[in-house]
Amino acid sequence: MVSNTNDKKKLGKGTKSVHSGTSPSENSLNTPVYQTSTFYLDDKGYKMWMAGEPRAPVYSGRYYNPTNRAVERKIADLEGAEDALVFSSGMAAICTTLINFLGQGDRIVTTRNLYGGTVGVLDQDFVRFGIDVHYVDVRDLDAVENALKEKETKILYCETVTNPLLEISDLPALAALAKKYGAVSIVDSTFATPISCNPIEHGFDLVIHSLTKMLNGHSDILGGTVAGKTKTINKIWEKLRNFGGSMDPHQASLVERGMKTLQIRYERSTETAAKLANWLEAHPKIKKVIYPGLKSHDDFELSKKILSDSGNMVSFVVNGGDDEGRKMLNNMSVASQAISLGGVESLISMPYATTHASWTQEARIAAGIDLGFIRFSTGLEDFEDLKNDFDQALSSL
Ligand SMILES: Cc1ncc(COP(=O)(O)O)c(C=O)c1O
Repeated sequence: MVSNTNDKKKLGKGTKSVHSGTSPSENSLNTPVYQTSTFYLDDKGYKMWMAGEPRAPVYSGRYYNPTNRAVERKIADLEGAEDALVFSSGMAAICTTLINFLGQGDRIVTTRNLYGGTVGVLDQDFVRFGIDVHYVDVRDLDAVENALKEKETKILYCETVTNPLLEISDLPALAALAKKYGAVSIVDSTFATPISCNPIEHGFDLVIHSLTKMLNGHSDILGGTVAGKTKTINKIWEKLRNFGGSMDPHQASLVERGMKTLQIRYERSTETAAKLANWLEAHPKIKKVIYPGLKSHDDFELSKKILSDSGNMVSFVVNGGDDEGRKMLNNMSVASQAISLGGVESLISMPYATTHASWTQEARIAAGIDLGFIRFSTGLEDFEDLKNDFDQALSSL
């Protein structure tokens, strides 16, 4: 157990992944699963409850649960944040966090190049409640500044590495702009993970992750988190309590266990992804490979400033278009066709039939998602097996 706070800050991310937050009880090595909906109302809990203090230990999930708390502490330490909150899903984390800052008529400046579900809720629901959702290309810093200057803005929102184009956001520049114009800067860093990037160190106020992906890493739960300053996290906690998108303690226990191997899973899958990206780029049936570690990537230089490595996601385009891409996917046998990512197993999908299924072909192509575009999430299988799998699937085209 690592207990001294000053010493803890100096620890590496592997050590933090294993030890931070883990809360033994009755001499157990691991955090027990506090599978309970409520707690005995003792004096401490009663006083906190009556005073409206965050996390009164009286009622689970929406208020406080020690298993959830272990995950929150682990995430906060890994992100270099003061505190964190966990939610039932990434979308619950995103919506609850955004709603904390936005009311009728308020502006959020963001980009369309986000996870499709986030654009969906902004367009379908936030707009319905009179929120001014203003899209710009966040890689165009002048456009961001103009949007912030034009109207008082509550939130500047982006993703560290975008899905599925793997574009990199210039976090220090965006954080500085948000600060200059008094907006709260919030970033979804799911693809980067806290191993590769700590947005708070780059000046961002809040960092969000879908825990469903790399942090849990075993494709067996949904979860979400937000990390930042204690004062802000306590305000968002009030919204978690009100809206109720809380994590179940059994789910939290799985996330805590998954996170213990985060660093090693991330590093190994990133190493394999880099080898695959290079191999795919030289393949005659591949039109284009998009991977931040390749010199051909538009953000190759920027990625070195923002990320500590190039990540485990690889996007590429096969010659011949969507039908050829679909044929290739159907021929893969080691990698599985599925729409999620960040698991121990490699997952492969085509945005045209998944995340971008509701887009017109023209809109998709205009956004940079060419015909035959494939997204690959690298798992822990051996490089040779994955390479051979790609080779045989591509040879059928
Ligand atoms: C970048 C990103 N953010 C958020 C989410 C939403 O997370 P969840 O599915 O856990 O609600 C996803 C889901 O794919 C994602 O890819």
